[in-house]
Amino acid sequence: MNVEKLREDFPILKKPIIYFDSACMSLKPRQVIEKVSKYYTDYTACAGRSSHKFAHEVEIQVAGTRKEVKCLINAKRDSEIIFSKNTTESINLIANSFGLKPGDEVIISDKEHNSNLLPWLKLAKKGIKVVPVESNEDNTFNINNFEKAFTENTKLVSVVHTSNMDGVTNPVKEIVKIAHNNNAAVLVDAAQSVPSKEVDVQSLGVDFLAFSGHKALGPTGTGVLYGKKEMLEKLDQFLMGGETVVDSTYTGYEPEELPARFEAGLQNYAGIIGLGEACKYLKKVGLKNISRHEFKLNKMLSEAFADNEKISILGPKDPEQRAGIFSFIVSGMDIHDVSGMLSASRNIMLRSGAHCVHSWFNKRGLKGSVRASMYLYNTEEEAQAFIDELNKILKF
Ligand code: ALA
Repeated sequence: MNVEKLREDFPILKKPIIYFDSACMSLKPRQVIEKVSKYYTDYTACAGRSSHKFAHEVEIQVAGTRKEVKCLINAKRDSEIIFSKNTTESINLIANSFGLKPGDEVIISDKEHNSNLLPWLKLAKKGIKVVPVESNEDNTFNINNFEKAFTENTKLVSVVHTSNMDGVTNPVKEIVKIAHNNNAAVLVDAAQSVPSKEVDVQSLGVDFLAFSGHKALGPTGTGVLYGKKEMLEKLDQFLMGGETVVDSTYTGYEPEELPARFEAGLQNYAGIIGLGEACKYLKKVGLKNISRHEFKLNKMLSEAFADNEKISILGPKDPEQRAGIFSFIVSGMDIHDVSGMLSASRNIMLRSGAHCVHSWFNKRGLKGSVRASMYLYNTEEEAQAFIDELNKILKF
């Protein structure tokens, strides 16, 4: 993987910045930008409705992205890929359509992003029980606690694959095995894993999986819900509108086939088409190469501060277990001051705060952390600049 060469694909990197906020939003290569622009310049139309040339082109391109996504996550069928706005919308679809009833239980982890906590807490108001599984001391997944959380009422497990807060990857294959032995289905929030590692839905055995395009080099406002065909077919429809039904009268309607029944109204065609290009880009670079590169950079940061008493790193000591995320707290300093100083001195762009995992920080009486999240276009020079600047702040 030639990082210097690959950086030339990202027009925004001509600016004097060190972009370490890819867990929030990845930068976009020109291949994706041009593909989006081409839709607006050459064939602006909608799919599935009109029968003119532009409309056919949109249909071909959207079908192309569905195939790209299917290959990226190794789904069995194109129709198992549902386009949504983002991971949040994909999870809300399941929460609203899975058919949970009062008394049913949903198991989550204690480190879920609000997008995989709030949809369940909303259901809790209707009598559905939400059971968060406590992690180990080092923030890794506790399988024993997980096994103990099941009851005969457990219907669904919804857990994060790779945490946006500390980068820890949960053992999804094992989680699925245990859940299925307990007759529960599994939904995985893969927003942070799909952009950076090989994710194979068939090998993992998950029933549903959600991710966002905007963290995976794709346009904003693009997301995916994967579901096994037989599981998607059992779901109630969520948003209703154009293209979700075959026919309707004043008193009823006949639902469309998969995937159209879950894609209501005019879609974000430009975004979806751009997402297909992002998938191609990821595959061309190679997900294994991306994971290895992130680890190399995280290792530099982690080793530089491992023995520094002022720095607490969230998650396990071993950077190999924290993907591209270096999330930390400086004792005696406000998290926003630290990120503000790094931004002011060298344009190092980070995120500080609770990263939408308020529940975890609130339990510990913490405001949040400073998070450096690295991706395929970051360099060792940038990692070194971060180390130097943070060391200056620590001395100061
Ligand atoms: N989930 C995104 C983040 O962690 C917004 O920054």
